[in-house]
Amino acid sequence: MYLHDTLSQTQSKKCIIEIFGLGYVGFPLSIRLATSGFKVIGVDVDSKRIERIQNNILNESELVFRKEFLESRKNGNFEMVKFPTKSDSSKIGIICVPTPIPKQNIDSNVFVKSAVENFLNTCKSGDVIIIESSVKVGTTNEIRTIIEGKGFKIGEDFGLCFCPERIDPLNQKWTLENIPRVIYASDDITFRIVQSVYHYVNNSSLKRVESAKIAEVVKSFENAFRLVNISLVNELAVLCDKLEINVNDVINAAATKPFGFMPFYPSAGVGGHCIPKDPRFLLESARTLNSEFSTIDTALKINSFIPKYIVDSIESTLERLKIAKSVLVCGLTYKPDIEDMRDSPGFKIINELQKRNFRVAGYDPYYKKDMRERYLIANELQELNFVELDSLDDDLIRNFNCICIVQYHAKTRFRLTAIYQKSLVPFIYDCQKKLAKDPKSKTILNVHNF
Ligand SMILES: NC(=O)c1ccc[n+]([C@@H]2O[C@H](COP(=O)([O-])OP(=O)(O)OC[C@H]3O[C@@H](n4cnc5c(N)ncnc54)[C@H](O)[C@@H]3O)[C@@H](O)[C@H]2O)c1
Repeated sequence: MYLHDTLSQTQSKKCIIEIFGLGYVGFPLSIRLATSGFKVIGVDVDSKRIERIQNNILNESELVFRKEFLESRKNGNFEMVKFPTKSDSSKIGIICVPTPIPKQNIDSNVFVKSAVENFLNTCKSGDVIIIESSVKVGTTNEIRTIIEGKGFKIGEDFGLCFCPERIDPLNQKWTLENIPRVIYASDDITFRIVQSVYHYVNNSSLKRVESAKIAEVVKSFENAFRLVNISLVNELAVLCDKLEINVNDVINAAATKPFGFMPFYPSAGVGGHCIPKDPRFLLESARTLNSEFSTIDTALKINSFIPKYIVDSIESTLERLKIAKSVLVCGLTYKPDIEDMRDSPGFKIINELQKRNFRVAGYDPYYKKDMRERYLIANELQELNFVELDSLDDDLIRNFNCICIVQYHAKTRFRLTAIYQKSLVPFIYDCQKKLAKDPKSKTILNVHNF
């Protein structure tokens, strides 16, 4: 009866939805459900984040949800707490916490498990847990054991799902509302419960798969596909450098093939909390089974090699030009127009330049000086001693012999083009090869423009 009660409470929006983790995944989901009429409790261990959101202060990437956010605050449907409390209403816990890169002695599920435990402390028969975090293979079954250890019977008086988030923050075409999901649900009633919740998320566009393992492998495989293709194109870019051709000319020509080819473009490598991490779950899984996943292994190696290759190219070019080794690294986020600096190639390049005694500065319009400690942790660095520039003003730029463009933002694109056209520095290394060659500029562009 319990799960049937939850189903009817969900259909009438009388259940409580607790969302664990109010970051890139949990925050938009909370607002979506709260503005759809559900009572949403956001649970986060970060008091500063809770305080910020409670004071209606949003990060740049959250501003797109501002209107709905204010609406959800006004209608009282969105509350934030550090710990959940008991309730007589059915509860659905959605886990959206980070899953760090698996390493020796670090379980990537540490936060997922603590969020689940936190939910279980206040839950009762009929409640449901949905995991949205990207997790290593086998996690959902581990969570099943934890839940059953509390005396519940999955599929009878407790529901369990794995429904990995696929969101691409700031993507305007593919949003929370129109990205289909893959889902594993422990039983049919739980699946119907989730359908009635996700009706308000993505119109219940849910592809149900038979086992939790299938859904877990799907999520990591999607990101492995991107990692491998990005590494492939970055290695092609290295070859094109040597051939003195622009890799983008190759890709754009290849992309005229109407089937069997998908363009990926060069960069300083992948970053963020998904693509460099999730494929490792498959690698780890293969190793546990005394097997290999050499494509992923190689792609990860290429990904760590690319920043070093870029610094080699910058170093040898400055040596050939016989000018001092001073570089401004521009663009420290892992993707455009967002403040997320986790596992970002910009920091890897700065770190490599510093190891080689370059004079280094960094600039990103999204960089916040007071977040420096967090950036260090998020990039697994002990120290960073670069000069933090506040702008790309002419006078500041002229102090450098090279600009290494790692990431473009709408806020910097025109300025970087102007710097090149005005020949403000002797050399620009454009990791994304986006600057169009201008014969009037005296600036050397990339490495094959002598
Ligand atoms: N960022 C993306 O684009 C994206 C896309 C798809 C999937 N994912 C996956 O979703 C998960 C969350 O990623 P994110 O980018 O939203 O992370 P995030 O760092 O932006 O947010 C996570 C939040 O969880 C909080 N938190 C940590 N431990 C907690 C706990 N035990 N209880 C409650 N809150 C806790 C943190 O304080 C933080 O506010 C990860 O597994 C990630 O791989 C992320």
